[in-house]
Amino acid sequence: MASSGKETGRPAAAGPSVLLVCLGNICRSPMAEGALRAEARRLGLSIEVDSAGIGDWHAGGPPDPRAIATAAKYGIDIGDQRARQIRREDFARYDHVIALDASVMTALARLRPAGSRAGLSLFMDHVADRAGQCVADPYHGDDAAFETSWSDVLAGARALAGRLASE
Ligand code: 4NP
Repeated sequence: MASSGKETGRPAAAGPSVLLVCLGNICRSPMAEGALRAEARRLGLSIEVDSAGIGDWHAGGPPDPRAIATAAKYGIDIGDQRARQIRREDFARYDHVIALDASVMTALARLRPAGSRAGLSLFMDHVADRAGQCVADPYHGDDAAFETSWSDVLAGARALAGRLASE
């Protein structure tokens, strides 16, 4: 996997930097990270992408096996990702901190130091006609829930990459 910023603590190359955040950093945001990396690569867009969770329950661990399997089904390997908890410093480090759902958005707004560099947005706000929508948490769901999450994160990744490419 390309450098994610997790090892270096800071995005390495030029281009916009994006941190995708969900609750546990083992289902939605790792899938979104994989989809956004793939979409940026497809567009030839130089971008730094990482993901994190509000909680630290899964820190250091790989994505949920169902998330890995779902992404793999669509040709994207997210098995090397490792979960981490968001840090206040992330708001100074990234251009965009993006929440996968509304409760995560609320938590991020509380955590964000005043005057932070990072712009805060909801992932699905970047998708036409889907503003305000959440990527539903598939953790307690079945395979169909992971398929729905994948479809949503793919739509978000395509829209976000397109927007960043035109900035
Ligand atoms: P995620 O899903 O936020 O999409 O990674 C979850 C994963 C784990 C938990 C909650 C949500 N958890 O409570 O452990």
